[in-house]
Amino acid sequence: MPASRSERRLKGAVSRILVIDDEPDIRELIDLTLTRMGLESDSVGTVAEARECLESSSYQLCLTDMRLPDGDGLEIVRYVADNFGETPVAVITAFGSAENAVAALKAGAFDYLAKPVGLEQLRALVKSALKLPTAELRVDSAQSLRGESAAIQQVRGMIDKLARSQAPVYVSGESGSGKELAARLVHGQSARANAPFVPVNCGAIPETLMESEFFGYRKGAFTGADSERDGFFQAASGGTLFLDEVADLPLAMQVKLLRAIQEKRVRKVGSTTEEPVDVRIICATHRNLRECVDKGSFRQDLYYRLNVIELHMPPLRECSEDIPVLVETILDRLGVSTRFSANALKSLERYPFPGNVRELENILERATALCSGTVIEPEDLQLSVEESPEELVGRGSETLDDYLNRLEKQAVLEALQKTGNNRTAAARLLGVTFRSLRYRLERLGIE
Ligand SMILES: Nc1ncnc2c1ncn2[C@@H]1O[C@H](COP(=O)(O)OP(=O)(O)OP(=O)(O)O)[C@@H](O)[C@H]1O
Ligand SMILES: [Mg+2]
Repeated sequence: MPASRSERRLKGAVSRILVIDDEPDIRELIDLTLTRMGLESDSVGTVAEARECLESSSYQLCLTDMRLPDGDGLEIVRYVADNFGETPVAVITAFGSAENAVAALKAGAFDYLAKPVGLEQLRALVKSALKLPTAELRVDSAQSLRGESAAIQQVRGMIDKLARSQAPVYVSGESGSGKELAARLVHGQSARANAPFVPVNCGAIPETLMESEFFGYRKGAFTGADSERDGFFQAASGGTLFLDEVADLPLAMQVKLLRAIQEKRVRKVGSTTEEPVDVRIICATHRNLRECVDKGSFRQDLYYRLNVIELHMPPLRECSEDIPVLVETILDRLGVSTRFSANALKSLERYPFPGNVRELENILERATALCSGTVIEPEDLQLSVEESPEELVGRGSETLDDYLNRLEKQAVLEALQKTGNNRTAAARLLGVTFRSLRYRLERLGIE
C-alpha cells in the first residue's frame, strides 16, 4: 500500500509530482524546476497515460495542461477527485482564459497557473500544495463553528472542502452569522495556515488611501511617504486576504483589485514595476452581491472572479435547534457559571435574531450581568420581541404604547439594515412614504 502523505513527510521521502502536458518544451521546463526543488516527477502527454501513472504510483500533486490530445484537464481534475481525493490537482490555463481557470476551480482544482508559466509562481504553487494538511493533521472546525443542524453541518463540510483548494470564496450571509469565523476556518485548515490571515474592512478605508493601503507605496510616492511601505497584499503574502464588506469598494478600486487578482501581481503606488503576490482571496458582505451587480454598484467581472465558490452562512433563526449548544459555548467563553432556565431557552428559540450569533452573544453578556442568581430567567434576556404579543402586553411589564414603539423601532431598524441605510428603499420596504419614515425616525430617536 502506498504511504500516506503525512507518513512520507515524516520519513522525509521525496515527494512525487505528475506533470501532464502535450508540449515537450513545457514538460521539460517544469521537470527541471521540480528537480531543482529536490522533487521527483513523472511527465506524460495524454489523459490516458496520466490515468496509467495514477493507477500505478502515488503522487503528492498533479499539474495538468487544460487542452490535451485525448481530453482535457478538467477530466483529470474530476478523475483524481473521485479516485484519489487527497491529491491536489493544479491546471495550466491558456493566457487570458479566465473562464478556464474558474471552471477548473469549480471542478475542484487546487489552483491554476496561467501561461506563460512563471517559474516563481510555479514554485510557490508547488510549495503550498505539498504543505496541504492531511486529514489526520487538520484542525477540527466543529470545535469553533458549533451546531449540529443540517445547515451548519453542511457549512462545515464546505469549509473542509474549500480548505483543500486555493479557489476564491465569497462568504454570504446576514450580519453576525459567522462569515468571518468561516473565513478564518478556511484559512486555518488550509496549506496557508502558517502564513497570515489579513482581514480588511473595505468599508472603513478612505477612498484616497485605498490604493496605497492595498498595494503599498514607494518612498516619495506622495507627501508624507517618507519610507517604503507594504500594503495588505504583501502583508498577506503566502496567506489569505479577507475582504470584508467587499460591496463597499468604490468602482475605481474594483478595477485595480480585479487586475491584481487576475495577474497575481501588484504595483506599489509610485513604483514603475509590478511584483508577484501569492495570496488567496476570501471576501464577504452582508449585502446581496448579485443585486449590487444588477444595480451597477459592483463590477460583474470582479463578482465573477471573487464568487468562484459561494459559502452561505445560514441565519440563526433557521438553525434554532443549535441555540442550546451555542448558549453553552458562549457562556463557557464568557467564563461564567450561570445557567439557563428551560423557559429562558424556550424564549430564545422563538426569537428571530436579526443580528444572529453576534446578537445572541450580546444578549447573553447582558443577561449574565443582569441576572441576580445563578439561573437566567426570560426577564434577564430583554429580548426586543419576546414571546407572543398577547402574553407580553397582558403581563403589564410595559404600556401598550411603549410596546408598539418598540416593535416599530425594530421594524424600521431592520428595514434600514436590509437596505444598507438607504431611506428611500427602506420606506418602500416598509410600505410607507419617505416623509412618513423621516417623521418616524425622528420620533423613535433613530439617527
Ligand atoms: N456557529 C457558530 N459557533 C460559535 N460561534 C459562532 C458561530 N457563528 C458565529 N459565531 C460567533 O459569532 C460572532 C459573530 O461572527 P462573525 O464576526 O464571524 O460574523 P459576521 O458574519 O462576520 O458578522 P458581521 O456581518 O457583523 O461582520 C463571533 O464572535 C463568532 O465567533
Ligand atoms: Mg464580519
